[in-house]
Amino acid sequence: MSELPARSWTGLPVFPPGFRFGMATSAYQIEGAFDSDGKGPSIWDTFAARPGAIRHGEDGRVAIDHYHRYAEDVAHIAAAGTHDYRFSFSWPRVLPTGTGQVNKAGLDFYDRLVDSLLAAGVRPVPTLYHWDLPQALEDAGGWLSRDTSYALADLATVLADRLGDRVHDWITLNEMSVQTLYGYALTSHAPGRGLGFGALPAAHHQLLAHGLAVRALRAAGAATVGVAAQHFPVAAASEDPADREAAEIFATLTNWLFSDPILRGAYPESLAGLLPVHDGDLELISAPLDFYGVNYYEPTRIEAPRPGKDYGGVLEVDIPEGMPFSPVPVPAVERTDFGWAVVPDGLTEILTTLRKRYPALPQVVVTENGASFREPVHDARRIAYLDAHLRAVLSAISAGVDVRGYYVWSALDNFEWAAGYDERFGLIHVDRETLARTRKDSWHWFRSVIAAQPSS
Ligand code: FCB
Repeated sequence: MSELPARSWTGLPVFPPGFRFGMATSAYQIEGAFDSDGKGPSIWDTFAARPGAIRHGEDGRVAIDHYHRYAEDVAHIAAAGTHDYRFSFSWPRVLPTGTGQVNKAGLDFYDRLVDSLLAAGVRPVPTLYHWDLPQALEDAGGWLSRDTSYALADLATVLADRLGDRVHDWITLNEMSVQTLYGYALTSHAPGRGLGFGALPAAHHQLLAHGLAVRALRAAGAATVGVAAQHFPVAAASEDPADREAAEIFATLTNWLFSDPILRGAYPESLAGLLPVHDGDLELISAPLDFYGVNYYEPTRIEAPRPGKDYGGVLEVDIPEGMPFSPVPVPAVERTDFGWAVVPDGLTEILTTLRKRYPALPQVVVTENGASFREPVHDARRIAYLDAHLRAVLSAISAGVDVRGYYVWSALDNFEWAAGYDERFGLIHVDRETLARTRKDSWHWFRSVIAAQPSS
C-alpha cells in the first residue's frame, strides 16, 4: 500500500456533536470466496453466469477478496477514524440453502470481522440482507413466496444469537425497491425475472421480512434497529397533467410503496389492493424503528410516454414499453462516470419531504451516498461530490430533519452489480489485477472531515 503525503483541507463541514460518519459495503460486492468453506450459491452467482447479464461478463466470484483480506480492509476503514462500518451478511454463507443447517465456517467469518472492527474502535452496523438471496430459496419462489420472509427472520435470529453480545445496531434489508424493480419487474439485476407489475408480491414479502426481522432482532435484545431504503425526488418533466400523473405513479412505485407501510402502516391507496397482505402484516411492517436509513444517489425526472420517442439509456436500465411512465434526463451540470446526475440539493429535498410526509419519522441516517469516478487515487471530483452532499445533509438538519449519521458508499472499489468493476465508488482504490488497496485522496479528506468534528 502506498501512502500519500499528508494534506490539510480547510473549511470542512461541521456537524452537531455525536454525528456518526461511516463507510458502507455489501457482501456480494466485496467478499468473493463464492464457494469457499461451505458457502452455498446466491442468486447473484447464478445471474452473473447468464450471458450478457453483467458488463464484460464479470462476476463476484473473487470480487475484491474481502473474505480473505478483511483484516487489512478493517485497518484502512478504522485508520480514517470511521465511527460506523455498514456491511452485509451473505445469507448463503451462513445458511447455504437459506434455511436449516448453519454453516459454522461462514458464521465464524462474521464473528472474526466483528471482533476486528471492535478491536479497531469501529462500530459494526450490519445489514441482514443486501440482495444476495440463497439460490435454493429463489428456486422455491424467492421473494414471490411468503416463506422467504419467515426464512429471513430465522436468519436474523441465527445472527443475533451469535453476534448480539457485540453487535447492537442492525439494518434489516437494503433497498427493497431496487430488488423489486430491477430484479423482479425487470431483468437487469438478479434474479432477472422480468415480471412487470407481477413483481408486486416481491415488494410485500420483503416488507414483511423486514417486519419479521425487526421482531426477531428485538426478541434477541438488539439495541437499535433500522432499514436502508433508497429514496429520491421525482419531478414531472412539465406541468402537463399527464406528465404529473406519470411522475406521481413512478414516485409511488419506487418511493412510497416501501416507506408508507413502514412509516405509516398503510400502502399507498392506488396500490393497496394489488398486494398479498394478510391480517397483521401491516402492524409488523410498521413496528417503530430506532432509525430510518436513506440511500440517495440522484433524482429522477418523468414524463408520460410519447409514442414513437426513444427513451433508451436514461436510467441504468430501460423501462419496457407499455409502462405508464418514462424517465427523461435530469438537467445537471455534472454527471458521475456512471452517468448519474450530481444533484446534492436532491438529498436535502428528499430528507425534508420524508420529514413532512411522515410525522412518525424516527432519526435518520444517510446509509449510502457516493459516486463512481474512475480516477485511481487523485479523486478531486469525489471529494467535491461528498463535500456538497454533506452540506446538503447540514441543510436538511437546519430545516428540522433529525439526521444522525452519513455513510459513504463505498469504503472500497467493488463489484457494481450489472455494471461490473468499471464503476468505482471507493474511498480506497482496488487494483483489478493485484487487488492491492490504496487510499485515495478522498479517504484522506474523509479522515480530515471526521477529525474536524466537535466531538467524535
Ligand atoms: C445502491 C446499492 C449499493 C451500490 C450503490 C451504488 O443502490 O445499494 O449496493 O451498488 O447503489
